[in-house]
Amino acid sequence: MTEENIISKLENLISLKELDDDNTKALIHEIEKLIDRRHRKALPVILKLSFHLERLGAPITAYEILYKEAIARKKRNKKKEYFKLLYLALKAMSMASFTPFVERLLLESIEEIKKNSDLSVFLPYYLTLDAFYHHIYMFSYEVAIVEYLTAKEFLNFIRDEEISELGLPSKRKMEFYITENIIDLYFRLRDNMPEYRKEEMLSEAQKHLKNLDAKDEEEYIQAFLKRIEFHILSHNYKIAEELLNEGKNYISAQNERSFKPCFKRLEARLLREQNKYYNAYSRFVDALQESIYYGNNFLEKLILDDIFNLISKMPARGQLFSSEGEVFLDSMLNLLRSKDFYLGVDHSHEVAQLSVHLTGEVEKITGKEIDLDSIYMAGLLHDIGKLYIPWFILTKPTSLRPIEWEVIQSHPLIGAQVALKLGYPKVAEIIEGHHERIDGSGYPYGKKNLSLETQIVALADLFQAAITPSRIYKKPKTKEEVLEEIKDYGGRKFDAVVVQALFNVVREGKG
Ligand SMILES: [Fe+2]
Ligand SMILES: [Fe+2]
Repeated sequence: MTEENIISKLENLISLKELDDDNTKALIHEIEKLIDRRHRKALPVILKLSFHLERLGAPITAYEILYKEAIARKKRNKKKEYFKLLYLALKAMSMASFTPFVERLLLESIEEIKKNSDLSVFLPYYLTLDAFYHHIYMFSYEVAIVEYLTAKEFLNFIRDEEISELGLPSKRKMEFYITENIIDLYFRLRDNMPEYRKEEMLSEAQKHLKNLDAKDEEEYIQAFLKRIEFHILSHNYKIAEELLNEGKNYISAQNERSFKPCFKRLEARLLREQNKYYNAYSRFVDALQESIYYGNNFLEKLILDDIFNLISKMPARGQLFSSEGEVFLDSMLNLLRSKDFYLGVDHSHEVAQLSVHLTGEVEKITGKEIDLDSIYMAGLLHDIGKLYIPWFILTKPTSLRPIEWEVIQSHPLIGAQVALKLGYPKVAEIIEGHHERIDGSGYPYGKKNLSLETQIVALADLFQAAITPSRIYKKPKTKEEVLEEIKDYGGRKFDAVVVQALFNVVREGKG
């Protein structure tokens, strides 16, 4: 492809509505090559594209473009431009994930800004990002509220002219955004409060709701959605229903992608408050599926939190293996399959099954009793954290870039959080460790001290993943090839008994 050709293709991309076919994905690949080369002529188009990519569900690509540009400014000592581009980069990334690297980058930037009075205009913007991080990724709702309010305070000290000179979002827009997020936080706090404090959280939310001053169509719908949610949580079901119906008129072709799943989510919230758990669950799943295929990562996270919150409060809580519970388990695994179709059709079940066989062998060899229930459940749920990984990465036809790989590596931790929320701490421990190895070469922590249960599921996952056709660029291996590779893993990456157990199981034709 010639340079002109690429640039005109990139320009076409700006008018694109969805990133869902292979041609578009191939184009993203071209963009990535350009990012690596920091292609001069294409740079203005690429920068313009970055905002678009964020909305199309490829926020990590947007981050990469903006981050590279930011670094280039830093080298030329253009500090203000650096902090502006870095802010935009981190904001794009906040839609997808906060990797340890990004988290560090954010905290170090805040420190530097605080030390340098020339940069104080950036403080409220960066504090808002940090508040968002606590809000969405850390579930520390009280901390997030305090940070948002602090950011709002600092906004007062900044002149409008300074902001518009830099091309940052206006003060008013930031205030709207912050208020909207604070309302969401009070709603979330209310969900987790004992009955007698629920009122209090709602009246806090109401105070902020009154200050939510929408100026354009998008903000108007956002404020409207918050009002509906308020009525749902205040048990004004009739009003909420009427508003939900009315809201359908506001969904235009342009905002359908972002708002349709939001309305579906509220329909589910309404059913949930009325204790119609099963209906609520399936409506949440509808909302999620509509959002998944559009790559709306942030909304997906909200809905997934809703879903796991719902399951954890259901009457069948703690009994995911009852017939009632299994409906949810199956449905969650189906969701995972439809989101990550490279995972292999029955990866979760196969890992669970193989883990059970391995457990039998390990018990036979060592005479120790091993927690089979937790192993089976962890086998099924080990990759459940991938539900939170952006669809665009999971279905990427080309090999992953380092930053995307870092994002994928967060799935054991997220999965463990889910299992904890559902009330299974032992399962959480196994899920968290399913990519760790006893020589410390695994992720996310490089932990060396791993229970036999964790190692059993980890080895079953490694074996199943290696022999299953998954990603296009990765060929499956035969069982013999995999056994050959791992024959000296015993005592290095896994306990010798676990590796021995795998050999026995495969030889007996059970693996
Ligand atoms: Fe995994
Ligand atoms: Fe897996």
